[in-house]
Amino acid sequence: MKKIGILTGGGDCPGLNAVIRAVVKKSLKYHWEVIGILDGWKGLIEGNILPLTNQHISGILPKGGTILGTSRTNPFKDQKNVDKLLSNMKKFKIDALIAIGGEDTLGVALKLHKMGVPVVGVPKTIDNDISGTDYTFGFDTAVSIVTDAIDRLHTTAESHHRIMVLEVMGRHAGWIATVSGIAGGADEILIPEIPFRIDDVCDNLKARHESGKKFSIVVASEGAKPIDTDNFETLSEEKDEFGHVRLGGIGQRLATEIEKRLGVETRFTVLGHVQRGGSPTAYDRVLATRYGVVAVELVKEGHFGMMVALRGYKIVPVDLTESVTKLRTVDMDLYNIATTFFAKPHNE
Ligand code: F6P
Repeated sequence: MKKIGILTGGGDCPGLNAVIRAVVKKSLKYHWEVIGILDGWKGLIEGNILPLTNQHISGILPKGGTILGTSRTNPFKDQKNVDKLLSNMKKFKIDALIAIGGEDTLGVALKLHKMGVPVVGVPKTIDNDISGTDYTFGFDTAVSIVTDAIDRLHTTAESHHRIMVLEVMGRHAGWIATVSGIAGGADEILIPEIPFRIDDVCDNLKARHESGKKFSIVVASEGAKPIDTDNFETLSEEKDEFGHVRLGGIGQRLATEIEKRLGVETRFTVLGHVQRGGSPTAYDRVLATRYGVVAVELVKEGHFGMMVALRGYKIVPVDLTESVTKLRTVDMDLYNIATTFFAKPHNE
């Protein structure tokens, strides 16, 4: 019999509970025990665990968030915490760890693997920016929430003849802005991958309004920034344990500038954590479930230092090194599809 430890780290995202459920169900088929570690790496450092039974996972498939809790704790900030974590692995007799998280959580998983800890990763983030996999679960749910918001902004923009700027999540990659912008018919999309000139943004909106349209929708990733600065718009300069500042403010900044330059009434909306909350879509439930089942299979086969990944329609193991060394940014072919619908794309 094996004992598997499971944890969820970093920002939460819809589908985490679906992975936990799948890991427990599949492990029970092998008569393995599953130890839930509370609040990410913090729980393993502090020794906070919850042995998971069928009862704990009953009814959690459609629930947002994570029943295990999460944190942005980085054990490698302090060697003492790494030592505590390793000694708790021994104390709880954990044979293998399944770490569900984004680049930071998987980065810790890789470091631990290199120190001899048997780890399997499961990629999670609404930002969809993890290399090695076509999709992370949570992204589809976020896109559907943002698309719904764009649809709603359309009707009020049209009534008031306004420009609406919608700020969405996406720290280093503009997947949410691009995909929901295409789905919602955005007239301008700004992403971290392509620093923008405010002149180009206004020229595009001006061309649209001169063609007879009386309203426009702009979607901007929180990590989008003007070409003449290296700085993000931030809510706070304080860094988390992985060195990230809190982004936010680009929507407001854009709205002020657009209204000033074009003389068209402009409003901004920041969707924030609404994008991460609530029930996962059917797509995310299925993807998360498949990831959970295959993660247990990887443990069974002793494939450690790997992450489950979606490639085409198959779930395959990929090296954790591949997933954490480089962020997966927006495919420019996809972004160019989005710009086809701009009145004046920036490069024309
Ligand atoms: O998990 C990724 C993400 O959703 C980013 O898009 C965003 O910048 C960040 O998390 C927000 O983090 P927090 O929940 O700590 O404010």
